[in-house]
Amino acid sequence: MANKWFETVAVAQRRAKRRLPAPVYGALIAGAEAGTTIRDNVDAFAELGFAPHVAGLPATREMSTTVMGQQISLPVLISPTGVQAVHPDGEVAVARAAAARGTAMGLSSFASKPIEEVTAANPKTFFQMYWVGSRDDMAARMERARAAGAVGVIVTLDWSFSFGRDWGSPRIPEKMTLQEMVRQVPAALSRPAWLYGWLRSGAIPALTVPNLPVGGAPAPTFFGAYGQWMQTPPPSWDDVAWLRAQWDGPFMLKGVTRIDDAKRAVDAGVSAISVSNHGGNNLDGTPATIRILPDIARAVGDQVEVLLDGGVRRGGDVVKALALGAKAVMIGRAYLWGLAANGQAGVENVLDVMRSGIDACLLGLGHSSIGELSPEDLVIPPGFTRRLGG
Ligand SMILES: Cc1cc2nc3c(=O)[nH]c(=O)nc-3n(C[C@H](O)[C@H](O)[C@H](O)COP(=O)(O)O)c2cc1C
Repeated sequence: MANKWFETVAVAQRRAKRRLPAPVYGALIAGAEAGTTIRDNVDAFAELGFAPHVAGLPATREMSTTVMGQQISLPVLISPTGVQAVHPDGEVAVARAAAARGTAMGLSSFASKPIEEVTAANPKTFFQMYWVGSRDDMAARMERARAAGAVGVIVTLDWSFSFGRDWGSPRIPEKMTLQEMVRQVPAALSRPAWLYGWLRSGAIPALTVPNLPVGGAPAPTFFGAYGQWMQTPPPSWDDVAWLRAQWDGPFMLKGVTRIDDAKRAVDAGVSAISVSNHGGNNLDGTPATIRILPDIARAVGDQVEVLLDGGVRRGGDVVKALALGAKAVMIGRAYLWGLAANGQAGVENVLDVMRSGIDACLLGLGHSSIGELSPEDLVIPPGFTRRLGG
């Protein structure tokens, strides 16, 4: 059998593209409008350089840390993604991989696997919610997450229903009916390895969201749930404080890009924020997260844990984020490509690529621990940062 190990995330992405039917790969790339933000998330990391040493380097390096009360073996967590049909084992494979590599996982409320299966595979699971439905609905969802053993909640608030991409959006069916399967046949047949994986699993992509219904209702379709979300009036800061008060444990607000919002999040009582622009899937034109991280970390980093997600593709990106004030990062597409390329082992492979990349940077920069990283380790071009809402 061919060796499926890959040496960088870019290789995993190429394999994912080859393996997945075009609409599934397109949904995973996502992005919005002109793709300005999705590009800047990645390009901005490349604008930062390193200032390495040549001697006096540490023989061993330490990269374990804690996030939201969980001990993790590297400063990289799985960001929640509601993406369907990539792999029959879906989020359960991701959870197993994260557990095998000693890290925590965010599970999307739009994910394809029930939370009970995911927490069984990785006890370090945070349940991610959007502001969907009534307060009672949201409290009931949290109660289910608590009963399933989730150890924290992530609330994602940066979504404004942007629609349309200049490169075209993939056609995603409402439901996998027989008629729909026939329509998908050409795309699926062009990707026999992917199709074989699903056939062997004995299932078809259900395209439902089992973590959203409350009171024993059947799982709605992805689009049914999306419709309910669109009809829900967006939350006020009082709503955020209310939601936070419903969860007796670590609570992250994901999607912060402005200093004033970061301060309000602190006032609402959150324990962590993720500086995030939804991986460039939301308002196009929002700057790369690595550009806005430093000012936010300076403003609230001593009061809450500050994470970053968006554009992280290698261990060096993780190190850059930590040097600019993040406690840890979350990855999205990187692990989805790994999952598509080689299932659970592919996600483990991505985490290993991150780990060895972080280790190489620590060695070169002369640090024995991630706690020693600082802006002094980086070459930061003039005008790199963006200060939003300061
Ligand atoms: C296909 C896809 C689906 C996503 N779904 C969710 C979601 O359900 N909930 C959420 O909080 N974030 C979601 N995100 C955003 C990710 O959690 C994360 O913020 C983003 O992917 C980070 O950027 P990166 O992909 O460049 O690492 C999604 C991202 C992608 C690419």
